[in-house]
Amino acid sequence: MPEIPSSTAPVAMRLPRYTKTEQDEILGGGADPFGVDAAGLTWLPKTEHFGVTYDDRLLAHAGLLRLPIAVGAATTEVVGVGGVAVASDARGRGLARVVLAAALDHARTMGPRHALLFCRPPLVPLYERLGWHPLDEEVLVEQPGDRVVAMPLRTMVTPLHDDAIWPSGPVRLFSLPM
Ligand SMILES: CC(C)(COP(=O)(O)OP(=O)(O)OC[C@H]1O[C@@H](n2cnc3c(N)ncnc32)[C@H](O)[C@@H]1OP(=O)(O)O)[C@@H](O)C(=O)NCCC(=O)NCCS
Repeated sequence: MPEIPSSTAPVAMRLPRYTKTEQDEILGGGADPFGVDAAGLTWLPKTEHFGVTYDDRLLAHAGLLRLPIAVGAATTEVVGVGGVAVASDARGRGLARVVLAAALDHARTMGPRHALLFCRPPLVPLYERLGWHPLDEEVLVEQPGDRVVAMPLRTMVTPLHDDAIWPSGPVRLFSLPM
């Protein structure tokens, strides 16, 4: 871990690009860095990227993407959040909180009233701590070959506006997951 002086608050900023090179800079080039390969899903790349850099090294990332969705009878859009990653030697120091806060500040300007993410079950308490809520309804997502499958990971949402209330009902994402 680069020694970040305790007086230096980490600052997140928008990244001009985020490719496999930047992901490897954070997570290393190992197999299955998100621990989700067993789900066998195809994912969408994100369109907007936020990161925390220290001493010219990229330490954290969160990506955003606007997605069409149906919740019960309501068709709407969400801001999908994905690719949340912190370098292994920089974890437990609040960098996920910082980079997600910056990403969600931007998400509030994008139009949709909620953000949504998928995560492994052990990460639910971490995201709850950051203000996200798990959904208990089935969530359907698209996959290549015109397939629609039930998302095996947990789905979590957070409001982007004070008066936003997540509608009840099953969820259908009209795209690949992000
Ligand atoms: C998941 C990951 C991004 C977390 O990064 P991190 O920088 O260690 O997270 P933070 O330090 O910002 O922790 C966020 C908050 O969750 C809390 N938290 C951490 N683990 C927790 C747990 N098991 N239960 C409850 N809260 C937890 C932290 O205390 C912190 O809250 P605080 O700021 O109020 O103290 C990081 O472990 C990672 O990159 N993992 C590999 C890639 C991955 O799985 N990404 C997730 C994709 S969905």
